[in-house]
Amino acid sequence: MSYKVDLSGLKRDGEVSLTQQLVDRFAAAIDAEQLDPGEKLPTTRALSAEAGINHLTAARAYRRLAELGYVTATVGRGTFVRTLAPAADERHGDDWQVYALPDRPVTYAEQVTGDAFRLANEPGMLSLSTGWPSPRLYPTEDLARISADVFREEGGNAISYLTAEGLLDLREQLARHGAEHGYAADADEIIVTSGARQAIDLVVRTLTEPGDVAVVESPTFVGFLSSLRAAGARIIGVPVDENGLDVDALERVLARHEVKLCALQTSCQNPTGRDLSPERLRRLAELAMERNFFVIEDGVYADLRFEGERPQALRSLAPGHVIYVDSLSKTVGGGLRVGWIAARGPVYERLAALKLESDFHTATLPQHIAARFLAEDLHRRQVERTLPFYRERRDVLIEALEHHLAGEYRVNTPQGGHHVWVTLARPLSERELYREAARHGVTFTPGGVVTAERHSQTSLRLSFSLLDPAELDEGVRRLARAMRQLRRTVRQGATMPLS
Ligand SMILES: Cc1ncc(COP(=O)(O)O)c(C=O)c1O
Repeated sequence: MSYKVDLSGLKRDGEVSLTQQLVDRFAAAIDAEQLDPGEKLPTTRALSAEAGINHLTAARAYRRLAELGYVTATVGRGTFVRTLAPAADERHGDDWQVYALPDRPVTYAEQVTGDAFRLANEPGMLSLSTGWPSPRLYPTEDLARISADVFREEGGNAISYLTAEGLLDLREQLARHGAEHGYAADADEIIVTSGARQAIDLVVRTLTEPGDVAVVESPTFVGFLSSLRAAGARIIGVPVDENGLDVDALERVLARHEVKLCALQTSCQNPTGRDLSPERLRRLAELAMERNFFVIEDGVYADLRFEGERPQALRSLAPGHVIYVDSLSKTVGGGLRVGWIAARGPVYERLAALKLESDFHTATLPQHIAARFLAEDLHRRQVERTLPFYRERRDVLIEALEHHLAGEYRVNTPQGGHHVWVTLARPLSERELYREAARHGVTFTPGGVVTAERHSQTSLRLSFSLLDPAELDEGVRRLARAMRQLRRTVRQGATMPLS
């Protein structure tokens, strides 16, 4: 008998079934600690050979042991003695949580996004990784006055519960903004959300079942990827060029797959800062209507345009197929958490129901403040006031690239937004560059975080909204130094065996 558990003398014609006898022996061995927590049990095939029993009997015994809580089975990995959480006492602190939490490793995208939020205000670190508006531009005086007005005039209503769709005053203001830009016609189409991030999440959760095919731009906004991954979608990236999403490439995807939804930004795309051309826009609307797939049109950067005409909203061409999402985060302040969805038909009802289920409604006070901010025409003035500020920073970043990295990269100048999408002329490991750059005191968003698939080129998203011009130049200088350092290390690594 080679195995730890004694499998000899099983009775084939006794009153107790073979399955039960196996279960009893394994359970006794586990109770007696002959088998350690986490120890792998033999495969069912090995067990059936060892015990001289049918393969199905072995499988049944393992299934029963799992039901009794003695073992856990993971498809593809095998069956293991269950690891018990250590007792939660003073000595062990909160370690038990590791055992109690679902086995879900943090993804690279989550790590980088977490770093971006954590490091944005870290002393000594220059953040080229967040598209946050500069706090220097926050309209704090207007907001302070409006907040006082809200409490004075609304009293308790300022903090009362609301319907899931949101404050009617705000929805009316957003419908006005929507009518001006073609993405909404009526307050009945608007649901207020906690930022555009929640809007995306609600839309993705409403539309997607595990295994559904979703098309995203490549590169895209990381929030689309996170929500789609969480929903179990099969994500296909379609390239973006200086005219936005490559709609011919999308058509090739549509020929091969049943596409459920396509998520894109039609204006000042994050990260390229480019628009979808009018021809592509029209073709995309036609395709959505011909093939009946949903489109999520994200417009968070659409107001932040430095050059060119704002493109027509895709939703104006196919309002039943396109669900529009937007927020005040990039124009007023991300911490307000005021975003919205524009949709119609049964999907609108589903979205409102999911919003209610998720968090009842978006906080009431910011909705009152946003409604008055828009009604007083302060939003338009805020955008006008901030555009020169961001345009200057974009230009400084582009110049800094030319100054510190001439010949080393390609870039399409963004027409708006907060980001520049840079592709290196010679590939380099993005992850190693990310680490090296952090050592040099600068962060950026590695291209791999905002693309659905692995790509052979090395790309970086550099954000210019948060830093001052001198800091932007210094940030790119540090990045260039980190790049050179990494290339040297790689070269030395490659030549080491010869030396
Ligand atoms: C393209 C895009 N969509 C949505 C969001 C989420 O915005 P919010 O802060 O309003 O949730 C962002 C934020 O960076 C973004 O860049």
